[in-house]
Amino acid sequence: MSNSDVNILFSHALNFRENKIDLKYQGRTAAFLFFEASTRTRMSFEAAAVQLGLHPLILSGKTSSSLEKGETLEDTILNIASMSPSVLIIRSGEALNLNLVNKILNIPILNAGWGCHGHPTQALLDIYTLSQKMNTLKGVKILIVGDVLHSRVAASHQELSKILGYELAWCGPESFMPKDTENKKFNSLEEGLAWGDVVMCLRLQAERHSEVYQFENYRKDFGLTKNRLSNLKSEQWILHPGPINHGVELDSIVLNDSRSLVLEQVSYGVSLRQALLDITQNPNFFELREGGSK
Ligand code: CP
Repeated sequence: MSNSDVNILFSHALNFRENKIDLKYQGRTAAFLFFEASTRTRMSFEAAAVQLGLHPLILSGKTSSSLEKGETLEDTILNIASMSPSVLIIRSGEALNLNLVNKILNIPILNAGWGCHGHPTQALLDIYTLSQKMNTLKGVKILIVGDVLHSRVAASHQELSKILGYELAWCGPESFMPKDTENKKFNSLEEGLAWGDVVMCLRLQAERHSEVYQFENYRKDFGLTKNRLSNLKSEQWILHPGPINHGVELDSIVLNDSRSLVLEQVSYGVSLRQALLDITQNPNFFELREGGSK
């Protein structure tokens, strides 16, 4: 997407937010292939599909599907694609080559989180949420705190920041930081918070680390605690893509602060995904709008 495509997408999402229900696609189906666990992404895509009149066909994890019997991910996708859904929404780990699937199938695919490669709709909804609070995103400084190395959300923000012109910096223990990065890195949360206009806390992904990381140590050094909250600027927005480890990357009380947009992210996510699903059903969507590139 170009910068103008993203702006068109955001204004399209706003239309959906203001006119809630639009049953445009009754009789069509949207296939959900969630090979990894999800709450927010799956259910907000599902809400978005239903609001558009797309009937969701849901495969969620191994249980009750033939994945349990050893069917491959690729065969699963090919079989479901043969049922002619209007769009595929896929969440998977590294085992699937999503680029290859995209080349083989002639059905629009939305990436709902792919290994450590990216989670583009999450990055888009984060920025869409901020765009409702700030006049411009250009030059805005976003501090991402946590396990950046394994974060598909951080990977997608890296791409989107280049398109929209916001600044990114990473903050966390050295072992969580990418080695080659052009972004600023902060080993001190205090210094990072002094730099940022927005702070995004990431879930500590304990399952991805061979060393046992002490949750209590992480909170002490990098947790957005009640004490640190008092040092934030008056409009320093707080984001978290979820799910949250309460008392680790942030204290529960932070969620009640007026600067926390965590549940607004989820809410804006539905209209953003409604707009994306609608765009998949209109191949020339961007071309038909002035300034769009595709
Ligand atoms: N943000 C996000 O991807 O949450 P889920 O894993 O619950 O979908």
